[in-house]
Amino acid sequence: MTKKRFAKQSEVIMTEMVLPNDTNTLNNLMGGKLMHWMDVVAAIAAQKHSTRIVVTASADSISFKHPIALGNVVTLKAKVTRAFNSSMEVYIEVFAEDIPANKKITTHRAFFTFVAVDQGGRPIEVPEVEPETEEEIELYEGALRRRQLRLVLAKRMDPKDAVELKSIFNLDEKKEEN
Ligand SMILES: CC(C)(COP(=O)(O)OP(=O)(O)OC[C@H]1O[C@@H](n2cnc3c(N)ncnc32)[C@H](O)[C@@H]1OP(=O)(O)O)[C@@H](O)C(=O)NCCC(=O)NCCS
Repeated sequence: MTKKRFAKQSEVIMTEMVLPNDTNTLNNLMGGKLMHWMDVVAAIAAQKHSTRIVVTASADSISFKHPIALGNVVTLKAKVTRAFNSSMEVYIEVFAEDIPANKKITTHRAFFTFVAVDQGGRPIEVPEVEPETEEEIELYEGALRRRQLRLVLAKRMDPKDAVELKSIFNLDEKKEEN
């Protein structure tokens, strides 16, 4: 197994400005443009962790609660939370800033999964993640049940094998009670 790497070694910060070509007819950032930026920043984080070519395997649900206006400065922060065999979960935070108005808000939080591949596109092993801060440890610990949930939804895992997921709902205990 390859040597562990600290979570912070994969951190990437990307800054963009919302320009007229990026907006919808209400002059707010298009969702697809934001997802493109999220994909890019997260792919760089996964590359930094694995030092390999990476491909996007999945993006967990993203909702658009706060519109981001034309002229806002958008900062995207990405970091690998946990690595499994060939796959890595990346946590992305998005902040929108209206600099003249001195206003900055967190607009999105999302998890993407990337797979490290060789030149032929075949999955290859990646180093484990060593979390250090309280937030990194919390994200690391939650990553296993998020992985199980997304693999069950993608029909790549039998729900009965999703042990971590079942434990948070206490499904077995409830069955025994009935
Ligand atoms: C992602 C990809 C490499 C997986 O290949 P595969 O032949 O299914 O390989 P495996 O079944 O061995 O899975 C490899 C890893 O991918 C993970 N994976 C596959 N599908 C996944 C999904 N929907 N969500 C999360 N992880 C997924 C598996 O859990 C596994 O992780 P692990 O090695 O850490 O245990 C392959 O499906 C692919 O190349 N997809 C296209 C990627 C791409 O082009 N992305 C850009 C979008 S257009």
